[in-house]
Amino acid sequence: MTSYPPAPEFAAQANADAALYERARADRDGFWAEQANRLHWHKPFTEVLDWTDAPVARWFGDGELNVAYNCLDRHVIDGHGDQVAIHWEGEPGDSRAITYAELLDEVCRAANTFTALGLVPGDRVAIYMPMVPEAIVTMLACARLGLTHSVVFAGFSPTALRQRVDDAEARLIVTTDGQWRRGKPAALKYAVDEALGSDPSSVEHVLVVRRVGLDVPWTEVRDLWWDETVAAASPSHEAQPFPAEHPLFILYTSGTTGKPKGILHTTGGYLTQTAYTHHNVFDHKPGHDIYWCTADIGWVTGHSYIVYGPLANRATQVVYEGTPNSPDEHRHFQIIEKYGVTIYYTAPTLIRTFMKWGRDIPDAHDLSTLRLLGSVGEPINPEAWRWYREVFGANNTPIVDTWWQTETGAIMIAPLPGVTAAKPGAAMGPLPGISAQVVDDDGTPVGSDESGLLVLDQPWPSMLRGIWNDMDRYRETYWQRFASEGWYFAGDGAKLDADGDLWILGRVDDVMNVSGHRISTAEVESALVGHPAVAEAAVVGASDETTGQGIVAFVILTGSAAAADALVSELKAAVSLEISPIARPREIHIVPELPKTRSGKIMRRLLRDVAEGRELGDTSTLVDPTVFEAIATA
Ligand code: WT7
Repeated sequence: MTSYPPAPEFAAQANADAALYERARADRDGFWAEQANRLHWHKPFTEVLDWTDAPVARWFGDGELNVAYNCLDRHVIDGHGDQVAIHWEGEPGDSRAITYAELLDEVCRAANTFTALGLVPGDRVAIYMPMVPEAIVTMLACARLGLTHSVVFAGFSPTALRQRVDDAEARLIVTTDGQWRRGKPAALKYAVDEALGSDPSSVEHVLVVRRVGLDVPWTEVRDLWWDETVAAASPSHEAQPFPAEHPLFILYTSGTTGKPKGILHTTGGYLTQTAYTHHNVFDHKPGHDIYWCTADIGWVTGHSYIVYGPLANRATQVVYEGTPNSPDEHRHFQIIEKYGVTIYYTAPTLIRTFMKWGRDIPDAHDLSTLRLLGSVGEPINPEAWRWYREVFGANNTPIVDTWWQTETGAIMIAPLPGVTAAKPGAAMGPLPGISAQVVDDDGTPVGSDESGLLVLDQPWPSMLRGIWNDMDRYRETYWQRFASEGWYFAGDGAKLDADGDLWILGRVDDVMNVSGHRISTAEVESALVGHPAVAEAAVVGASDETTGQGIVAFVILTGSAAAADALVSELKAAVSLEISPIARPREIHIVPELPKTRSGKIMRRLLRDVAEGRELGDTSTLVDPTVFEAIATA
C-alpha cells in the first residue's frame, strides 16, 4: 500500500521528531513529567503516576494548578493579551474576534457571577448551548472555580437533558434563548423548561444567554439573563489552584446499555495530554497558525480540541456556530479563505459529504493556507483520505487520522506529522508515551493482518477516572475483559499490517457510529418500545456511504399495522424526540418476529446481514431459522 512520507519542508519545521518516541520509551514517567511542564503549576508536582489504586489513576497527584489560568491568564501575563483567541463566526454571518485579554475578562465576570449564585468547588453545572462564545466562557469559568461542568449537546432532547442533569445533580444550567439552524431561530430555553417540568430537581438557577431574540418562558428567581448578571459582574478574579486530580468535567456518552455513562475527567493529566497532542499531532505554532476544529462542544472533540488543548497552547482558532451548508455548501471553504485557516480538523462523514457535493465547490476557493488536515470520529476510508489530501491539501499536506474516545480524553493513536509516512485509512500507531496492543479474546497478540481487539496496556494522563455515580460499571465496562492483564478494553476492533501499522476496524460491541456520533442500539431500542404500537425492537448499524453507519430498526408491533407508512414516520419522529435527531433511524422494518438464540439474545449480526443486503451468515444457533423468511417477506 502506498504511504505518504512527509514533505521535507514540513518535516524540517515540525514540532515533533522521531526522537520523541525514543525519549518516551526510555523513560515514560520522565517523558510525561516533561509534557506536564508545558503547564503552569501553582504547586509543582513531585510524583508522576500513582497506579496503586488501579484502574483509577493519579497523575501528578501532589501538584496543584488552575486550568483557566493555564488557558488564559498566563498568556495575558506573557504579553499576548491582544492575540485573537477566537474568531467566532455566527451562522447568520455575524462575527466576533475575541482576544485572550477579552476572553479572560469575560471568564472572570462569569466566575464572579457563579460564585455570587452560591456555587462552590465540586458543584456541577450543566451547559446546554449552541456554539456561541459564552459556551466556552462558561466551561472556562467552571474550570476556574473548580466547578465540574457537564456539557449536554444542544441537539439532545429535554428527556436526555433531564437524565443528565439528574445524574450529575447539577445546581445550575446555562443555556441560550435559542439557536440558529439553517437560517432559522430554533428554541432552546424552552427545552430546559420542558426538561425541568414541575418535578423538583437539583437545579437552582437557569442562566440564559440571548442569542436569537426569541421570547422564552420565564420562572422568576430561578431564571436569570446572562446580559443582566455576567455582563454586570466584576472582571477581576484571582484564579485559585486545585489539586491535579480535582474533577474537571463529566461528559455523557453511550454505552452498550440504554443508560448513558458519565465519563469523568480530572485536571492535570487531562490538560497535559490535550496540550501535548495538540502541539505535536497538529504541529501547532502559537501566533502563526489559524486552527479550526469543526466539532461541537457537546462532544469530547470540542472539549479537548476547541477548548482545553488549543487554549492551553495559545492558539488562534475559528469557532463556527452553524452547519456546513448554511446558507450554502460554500460555507466552510469561505471560512477557510476568510481567516486563512492553516490547520483543519474534521470528521470523515463531513469529508464524504463534501465529496458528494462535488469538488467544484472547494475548487472555487483559495485553500492554499491549509498546511495540516486532521480526521476523527470513525475510520476514514482510503478514498475519502485521498480526496481530502488532494482537494483540501493540494496533494501535499499531512493528514493525521486520530483515534481516541470520550474515555481517553485526548488523542492516543495517530501518525506524527513530519515524522510518520501515513497510509490512507490507517491510524498508524500509538503516540509517544502511549501503548496499545491488538489481541485476541485470550489476550494473545494477533498475527499481522489478523483482526483483534484494541487494548491500551499502560495508563495515560488524560484517561477517564471513572463513571460518575457508577464505579462498578467503570470496572466492568473497561477493565473486566482483560482483568488479569490489567488492560483497558477500548471496544474497537483493530489490526496491525505487515509493516506493523495499526488500522482501526470499528466497534466490536453494540455501539453504532453515525456521523462520528456514538449511539447504542439499546438506547434506540428503548425509545422504540416506549411507543405503544411497538412490542419489541432490534436495532443495528448498517454501513452507510455518507454517515459511516445508518440506524436500521426491526420492530414487532403490539397490534396489526394498518397504516404502516404513517407509523414508521411516527416512530422515527419518536426516536428523534426521545434522544436526538442524530439517533433517527434511517429505516424501520415492521417484522413478525426477530431472530433469537436459545438463550433469547437477539442476533444482531444476522440482522446486520439483512440490513446490508448480504447473504445470511451462520443461522445454526437460532431457535427458529425460518424467521428470516418472515422478515424477508415483511
Ligand atoms: C469511538 C469513540 C474521539 C472523538 C470523537 C468520538 C471511533 C474515533 C476514530 C478514528 C476509527 C474512530 C471509535 C471509538 N473513532 N476516532 N480516527 N478511526 N475510529 O468520540 O464518541 O467517544 O467515540 O469513535 O470507534 O471507540 P466517541
